[in-house]
Order: sequence, then structure tokens, then C-alpha cells
Amino acid sequence: MSDQHRSSPATRLVGMGRPDRSPGAAVGPGIELSSTYVAGGTPAYGRFSNRTWEVLEDTLGDLEGGRALSFASGMAAVSACLALTPPGGTVVLPHHSYNGTGALVDLLERRGALRAVRVDPADTAAVLAALPSADVLWIESPTNPMLEIADLPTLFAAAGKAGVRTVVDNTFNTPLLLQPLQLGADVVLHSVTKYLAGHSDVVLGATITADEQLYATLLTHRTLHGAIPGPHEAWLALRGMRTLHLRLERACENAVELARRLKEHPAVARVRYPGRGAIVCLETVGGQAAAEALEQRVQVWLPATSLGGVESTLERRRRHAAEPESVPVELVRLSVGIEAVEDLWADIDQALRG
Ligand SMILES: Cc1ncc(COP(=O)(O)O)c(C=O)c1O
Repeated sequence: MSDQHRSSPATRLVGMGRPDRSPGAAVGPGIELSSTYVAGGTPAYGRFSNRTWEVLEDTLGDLEGGRALSFASGMAAVSACLALTPPGGTVVLPHHSYNGTGALVDLLERRGALRAVRVDPADTAAVLAALPSADVLWIESPTNPMLEIADLPTLFAAAGKAGVRTVVDNTFNTPLLLQPLQLGADVVLHSVTKYLAGHSDVVLGATITADEQLYATLLTHRTLHGAIPGPHEAWLALRGMRTLHLRLERACENAVELARRLKEHPAVARVRYPGRGAIVCLETVGGQAAAEALEQRVQVWLPATSLGGVESTLERRRRHAAEPESVPVELVRLSVGIEAVEDLWADIDQALRG
């Protein structure tokens, strides 16, 4: 193959991180279980680096266009990125960021570690107005669970001019739908737990940046906080990522079709679907009671938190105390999986009709 030819993400997902093609070699990487190493080389110690993490990091870094670090969870990655804020500095973040991120920002603000300014990321003028006092601009696009979309090129350009660092939680998109570093973001993070790993059997996080200084800061944070993944989890995540393109394609097709049909459903007052991805939110005509009944009646859909697995799940988000009151009590978030769309439709239709 010529040097100019760059394989598509699907081919890289399948082929990256495999051992050399020597006769008799394994076709997939092993799991390196070692807490320490013979002195004088790298790795040196299991909290600093691990070859199984590195295989996952090389693949994810390649897809996002930067250098990746794997973390113990998505929240460990969130925590490392929030620590990029200087002491007492200001973070501008969405009202409806993931509720764990919101709760951690609240905690840090109560301790005086930072100041938070909350905005609607779809209101570009409001975000731009908040930038002069900001140190970090935190983006989720779409937001979780209100699915608001931000004008990323405009915001990144303005943040760059104002010297504001931009961090994007790209969990809902994956690098196959959006590559924020290519649009000018400084750092991308993922809850790898979701689409990247994809099978609801591993909790893991990651950061990716093309800035060497930020990479070094994030690596120091991971090492000193011990926010490291287990090698087995890293291996499972890479195995899951091999099929990301197929899973995402099917889940998105299903989501488009279900969003279209749900808009016509007599028991549904409102559907939120930003036009990409596989998360759809609906609001029931019968309020909270109808949303709770929907959770209880489904048989194919799983009533469960989290998202991005092969299986379709749903949940009324306000059942979590940490969810902001501006999220409607009857809002049900659907994580559309890869089952046959007619089975998903038949099940949710019967559950909505009661
Ligand atoms: C958008 C988003 N970011 C971060 C997280 C946190 O990830 P984890 O649960 O892997 O710690 C989640 C979890 O739901 C999420 O939805």
C-alpha cells in the first residue's frame, strides 16, 4: 500500500494494536499483568504505564488525532481535565453537562478550587459573553440529557483568541461522529464505558490531546492520583472498539427511525434528537407517572442507567437527585442499541400505550 493511502477509521479500528506478523504470533494483543518491571527500562512500574493500556491509547489517539491516556473511569478523566483549571480559576460549562461532572464542579466550587459559570452551549452569544472571565470552556455537544448542540468552530476560535482552554466530553459522539481536536479543541475526553467499549461490561475513561504540555500534565495527574485502569479493562475496551463502526452505524440508523416514529406517537409530547448519534429523549404526555410506567412496562428495552451498549436502555433521568431541575420530570433518555428496529418499536409502543 502506498505511503499516501490512509486507511479509513473502520480499517484502523480492526487492525491497530495487533502484534507483529511473525509466524506463530498471536493475532491479538495479550493482557500484561505486572505491577513492576526489571529496572533500567520502560515500563518501570504498573502505575506509570502498562503495555495493554498503550495499545488502547494508540488506537484511540489515532482516531481522535492526538495522544491518548486511559483512566480508571470517565469520571477519573473528567477530574483530570478539571484539574487543568488554575487554582480559583473559572470554568464555563453547560447547565446540562453530565450530572457527575456537574456534581464534581459543585464540590470543587464549594472548596474554593474553582468558580463555575453555567451556560446553554446552544446559545453562542451567551457562551462568548462568558469567555473573557474564563480559564476553561467545557463542552458537551450534545449535552446529557437535553441534547443541546454547540457551534463548535465559533466557540473554539473565540476561546483560542481569548487564551481559554477547551475541553470536550465527546462520549456521545465517539471519534467516528465528531473529532473536536480537528476543529480546534485542546482536550477531548471519553467515558470509554459507553460506546467505545460498547458492551456494558467495563468502566474506563480516556483523555486525548495533541498538546504535549497538556499531555504531560494529564499524565502526571493520572500517575499521582492513581487514576489508572486495570489492564483487563483496557483489553476489554480495545476488543469492544474493534466493532465500534458497525455498532454505531446500526444504533444510529435505529435512532433515526425511532425518533421519527416517536414524534407521531399519541403518548409522546416531545422528542429530542439532534440529528446524529443514538441517544433520543422523549417526554411522556402523562407526566412523571407515565414515564415511570414506561420504565416498568418495557420488555426488550432495559430500564437501566448508562448508555452506549449493544443493548437498548432507557431511564427517567430525574430519578437521579443530581439531575438539574431544569430537566423535565417526564424526560426519558433512550440509548438506542443494535437490536432489530421493529422489535424495539413494538416494545416501546406497547409500553407507551399501557
Ligand atoms: C457524557 C458522560 N461523561 C462522563 C461520564 C462518566 O463516565 P464513567 O461513568 O465512565 O465514570 C458519563 C457517564 O454516564 C457520561 O454520560
